[in-house]
Amino acid sequence: MAVTKTIAPALLGVRRAGGGPKDVAPRVVGRLAVVTGASRGIGRRVAQRLAAAGARVVGIARGEDALGRLRNQIQARGGAFEVWPLDLRDSAAATRLGEQVVGQFGAPGLMISCAGHSIHRHLDESWDRPHDFTRLAGVNHLGPIALALPLLRAMTGRGTGHLISVSTVMVDVPTPGWTAYTGAEAAFEAWLDAGAPELRAAGVAVTSVRLPRVATAMSAPTAGRYPVPALSVDQAADAVCRAIAQRPRLVRPWWASAAGAVAGLAPGLTDRVWATVLRAGWRP
Ligand SMILES: NC(=O)c1ccc[n+]([C@@H]2O[C@H](COP(=O)([O-])OP(=O)(O)OC[C@H]3O[C@@H](n4cnc5c(N)ncnc54)[C@H](OP(=O)(O)O)[C@@H]3O)[C@@H](O)[C@H]2O)c1
Repeated sequence: MAVTKTIAPALLGVRRAGGGPKDVAPRVVGRLAVVTGASRGIGRRVAQRLAAAGARVVGIARGEDALGRLRNQIQARGGAFEVWPLDLRDSAAATRLGEQVVGQFGAPGLMISCAGHSIHRHLDESWDRPHDFTRLAGVNHLGPIALALPLLRAMTGRGTGHLISVSTVMVDVPTPGWTAYTGAEAAFEAWLDAGAPELRAAGVAVTSVRLPRVATAMSAPTAGRYPVPALSVDQAADAVCRAIAQRPRLVRPWWASAAGAVAGLAPGLTDRVWATVLRAGWRP
């Protein structure tokens, strides 16, 4: 099991090297980094790494206590971390918070959009649950945009900055049971695809990091459902930090790129494969 954990990034096609403190520091020392989802999981670990590398971190989530504990831990090590509680489902509050951050600190150097929520539920269990879709659209799509707008306005005004979306391979490999989650994640990714050229023209870099499974509170309820290893939080944070250092446009495993290419060339093929699996009685 330990071996599987160690080689999981290689098995899953996730590159991690190049995201160490020395790689990240030149991008973040003395700069403001806004990190959503900083109260736990991947966002928390990325926030810790950024603070250790010399960034001033604004940590956003609902969990004020968890953010406060992280602030105390980071400050005890000499780092800078500010607690900014927010429920991303409240878009108006998200925009207000973004404006307040800019008003207080100026344009951020970096925004990591890492907050997220997932729901595993098949369509035949969802007919009476439109609120699942509304909820995930709020947390994973509309809230992050509402927060990003004032931050991006300030970044483009300065002609520099970097927006990173921590997303999922399910955007490339749609999987039964994840319609609300994949729909909201893909909508945010599509928004970034449309906006990235304008942001780039204004000097702001955009990166999507599409991760496979990571062992966090989010994936715990469906752990063991799929016969694949999960990344550890550290391994996922490595991939995000590598993106901070190298600023690629898109990070995803090779097999997700291949799946995306197949879907482009043969629309419907994935549906037929999954339909065969479902008819055979396996509900992923
Ligand atoms: N875990 C995986 O297998 C996996 C795989 C691929 C991609 N991802 C992506 O990675 C990102 C981080 O996921 P994770 O695994 O680290 O999940 P996690 O451990 O469950 O953490 C989720 C974070 O999002 C915050 N959040 C949730 N709802 C929120 C809301 N309404 N308003 C503000 N913040 C909210 C949570 O804080 P509060 O609860 O305190 O608000 C928490 O900090 C997500 O975008 C996810 O889609 C995860």
